[in-house]
Amino acid sequence: MSLENENFFKRFAQVSKSINTGVNSAEIFASIVGHTKECLSAGGAFFWILDDSTSRIESVTMKGPAHGDVPNLNYSALSTLFRSRASSVVNITNIGEDSRFAGIACPEIFDNGAMCGVSMDISNSYRAILAVWFATPRCLNEVEQDLLMAFAEQGASAVHKALMYDTQMVESLRQMVEGFALVLEAKDEMTHGHSIRVARFARLLAEELTLSPHEREIIYHGGLLHDIGKIGLDDAIIERLGILSKNERNVIQQHPVIGARILRPLKFLSDVLPIVLHHHERFDGTGYPDGLKGEDIPIGARVITVCDALETMLAGRKHMRRIRLADAIGILQRNAGSQFDATLVESLFAVISKKPDLFSENGNTPQALRIHRENLKRYFDITPSIFI
Ligand SMILES: [Fe+2]
Ligand SMILES: [Fe+2]
Repeated sequence: MSLENENFFKRFAQVSKSINTGVNSAEIFASIVGHTKECLSAGGAFFWILDDSTSRIESVTMKGPAHGDVPNLNYSALSTLFRSRASSVVNITNIGEDSRFAGIACPEIFDNGAMCGVSMDISNSYRAILAVWFATPRCLNEVEQDLLMAFAEQGASAVHKALMYDTQMVESLRQMVEGFALVLEAKDEMTHGHSIRVARFARLLAEELTLSPHEREIIYHGGLLHDIGKIGLDDAIIERLGILSKNERNVIQQHPVIGARILRPLKFLSDVLPIVLHHHERFDGTGYPDGLKGEDIPIGARVITVCDALETMLAGRKHMRRIRLADAIGILQRNAGSQFDATLVESLFAVISKKPDLFSENGNTPQALRIHRENLKRYFDITPSIFI
């Protein structure tokens, strides 16, 4: 084995060891650009991580002097130079004469230099680009190109591993927060399971609305967490749902704001926060906390509002009898366009007609039905307060 090859394998082995022993990503990327620069005797090396779904550069790691504007190459410039899914190294032997650099703002100092790089797809929309630059015209030979590819593959594998780890970590944290919210809810026999059922109804409604799988997931998690702000409220007040005084109602109406405050530091739940904050807005603009109106209310919050109301009616509360599905449908219908988004109410009815068993009320006992008939008007009149 030649000295150069031995040198390369030593360096390659070091990077592999870093990846497999869980060294943090920043150190691995620094090690990759460092070894790539040294092995290729380059002026400098860069390792970019790009997200093609947002057209953003997520991170850049460099080794060597900042050569003019190279560290500032933007997403579109990088995408033009190193296209996604290209399986070979891009050799730009003389930047000053290369049309691919036409229109890309680069410093004069770079005019006669060279740049060679390769783009590696990672997973989902992420990809990595490993590139080296030289101050004079240069072309990587086949062996050098293989070497660049090998280091780029290592970088891509390190990013993939980090992304998997992040995904698992976020999932675990989210489950912890949701589990915490559901356990607190379970303290009360009447509210036990409320948020899970709201979340399930909401996911079905989101499917019926043909929202994207990502939006459906956000809405489902919004359902699980929509009442998390009740954690900070006095249980005695929550139990009085249906017979709340004006003061108690004012207190309980704080729960969307408290919920949003709880979630705000948790960046991984930022998509869910608007649902929690706005799930008591009304379509006619008379809801709370912000009095948002119509489609200014986020779609996820509108979905949860109607599902929350349906679940609350079907399950009942300590001071509020359960309502039969048929009657709950009537109440939703009468409030469509004022409290609820009428389009969503219609879509929810479509879901119910397809899967009626999932919406079975537990209030079909003769006694509950008798009380319900006698009090339907009263229930209807207090509709705004029972959906707290
Ligand atoms: Fe609520
Ligand atoms: Fe609720």
